Amino acid sequence: MEHRLYRGDMEVVCATLPETVRLDLVYLDPPYGVGSTMSTRDGVGQARGKKRRGSGRDAYHDGGDVDALVAMLEGGLRALAPHMAPDGCVYLHLDWRAVHDVKVAADRVFGRSAYCGDVVWTPGNGSRGARGFSVTHQTLLVYAMGGRKKLTFRADHPLLREPYAETSLSMHFKREDEDGRRYRERTVNGKTYRYYADEGRRLGSVWTDISAMRANTPLLDEGTGYPTQKPMKLLERILRASSSEGDTVADFMCGSGTTLAVAAALGRRFVGGDRSDVAIETTRARLDAAGVAYTFVDAKRSASDTAADMPAADASPEPATS
Ligand SMILES: C[S@@+](CC[C@H](N)C(=O)[O-])C[C@H]1O[C@@H](n2cnc3c(N)ncnc32)[C@H](O)[C@@H]1O
Repeated sequence: MEHRLYRGDMEVVCATLPETVRLDLVYLDPPYGVGSTMSTRDGVGQARGKKRRGSGRDAYHDGGDVDALVAMLEGGLRALAPHMAPDGCVYLHLDWRAVHDVKVAADRVFGRSAYCGDVVWTPGNGSRGARGFSVTHQTLLVYAMGGRKKLTFRADHPLLREPYAETSLSMHFKREDEDGRRYRERTVNGKTYRYYADEGRRLGSVWTDISAMRANTPLLDEGTGYPTQKPMKLLERILRASSSEGDTVADFMCGSGTTLAVAAALGRRFVGGDRSDVAIETTRARLDAAGVAYTFVDAKRSASDTAADMPAADASPEPATS
């Protein structure tokens, strides 16, 4: 199968995918229930994110109704499930507003035993409220179709390692090999293992080393001006951890197309989609600029696929942190 990009609602797109499509890795970054229309930054002086005076184009509406958001997502996951490869996995990216409700809904679709745990990602942006409690992380729920023990996770890849703590380096890494590399050795059950300081240790589930700023600033090529665009490095880590070259990676809420751009660069096939015209336009421009060829399919929109599909609740006082 070639790369494919669909315009349309996730549930409709998944229902129209050829029966033979098997997805190895799916990343979904839906609206978070912020309670605002999200707008682009198209030029100097504009700010992307929650719509305000002088914002760019309306990219999508993120209503504040968590129940409506969960129902939409659950419908999409149910339509997605038959297309998952038996050893495939799903990363669901949310924030505090809806993550716990979505976890319960995703358990209903994939089964509780498919849940592997969370990744906590600190984007490092978002203003702290002048007073009160500021949530500075987002959460990725990880599901493996074959259960937790079957999750593909290449923890030894360099992108999935982090430096040892200073105290650990000074206390344990006291020896040097003939090339001057610092190391320590540990003997477990009679077998001796050598660990090099410069290789770092396996990354845990708290990711603090990828700044959202990479995707947000107009100063770097990566930034498209699309609201809530995620950094390519975050997607590269997920794809390197949980997919292989030649695998099929999907993102049915692709926004600016970050997942698709990374998938193509890493030799994965992609199936992408979004129901927002601005998202599709942004993704197409991004893929075209990268010289990526793909088939475009305009999926028929569902009746719910309008700006009114997620009724806005009172605007949340918190800033969007994605
Ligand atoms: C947080 S943004 C995704 C940002 C993206 N990860 C990126 O890096 O640019 C959420 C996207 O979900 C899309 N969306 C929301 N509900 C959808 C649905 N039911 N089907 C398809 N796309 C949907 C929105 O149009 C929006 O582009």
